[in-house]
Amino acid sequence: MSTIQQLQRKSLLGLKELDREEIEAILSRAAYWEAQTEKVQPVLPGKFVANMFFENSTRTRFSFEVAEKRLGAEVLNFSAAVSSVQKGESIYDTVKTLESMGIDAGIIRLKPSGVLQELAERIRVPLINAGDGNNEHPTQALLDMYTMRQQFGSLSGLNVAIVGDIKHSRVARSNLWGLKAMGAKVHFCAPDNMRADELDAPYIGIDEALKADVIMMLRVQLERHESGMIRSAEDYRTQYGLTVERAAKLAPHAIIMHPAPVNRDVEIDGDLVEHPQSRIFPQMQNGVPVRMAVIERALRG
Ligand code: CP
Repeated sequence: MSTIQQLQRKSLLGLKELDREEIEAILSRAAYWEAQTEKVQPVLPGKFVANMFFENSTRTRFSFEVAEKRLGAEVLNFSAAVSSVQKGESIYDTVKTLESMGIDAGIIRLKPSGVLQELAERIRVPLINAGDGNNEHPTQALLDMYTMRQQFGSLSGLNVAIVGDIKHSRVARSNLWGLKAMGAKVHFCAPDNMRADELDAPYIGIDEALKADVIMMLRVQLERHESGMIRSAEDYRTQYGLTVERAAKLAPHAIIMHPAPVNRDVEIDGDLVEHPQSRIFPQMQNGVPVRMAVIERALRG
């Protein structure tokens, strides 16, 4: 295998290119990390990992940092807002700068879609995608699948309804590809102007979505909308939101998921965020062992 192929195998740019076996391996290793009682196990001594966030984040950034520290790696935090990006430095030059300083892996979040692949081909350390535009958010989907597996044991045959702003959602894309690889059945539910017809999943109405084993609500991504995409928050809630009344129709075994941050009382009622059937905070908790597994894969193989 060439050096470039080895590097590509260690990077994680998306779930579209991962098969069931590779996803299983990551989820199983995450279960190993979750079961550890020692919080810090320094299996990555002397490895430098840079968290390069060119777009805002709370969950992804901090859970990567916790994961890196639990593995005993040296952590560098780059924030675009206080960097030379503000002087016009490009994404490539910024990442190349950190590579030249000797980082061993980079976690990267980008605003635009479609630049990460090219970047990864020009950088000589593994890169892990922490969300790129509306393209992919692979570690979010891995932690989502981990959460579903925790609940149901297997993903094979599971009915998952993903509801909301599919068009702008990297979470929907990574979950679609990952869940299909794992044998789950994925349906989308969205207003006409938030559909992504290029994606291979059937659309259903909100009442049908309530019959799924997993109902995954997506954040209305107001920051990525052209003006006028929704009439009002209340109108969206009425038509597509998971309200308390709708949640009462879910099967007792069904779970509610959301990648967060949540627009309370828009795509999901505030009272449902910590509902007994909600897994929103367990999803965040699961982000740490899943990201430990992904970082370990990048740095130890
Ligand atoms: N779910 C998610 O990616 O959240 P952050 O934007 O806070 O990282």
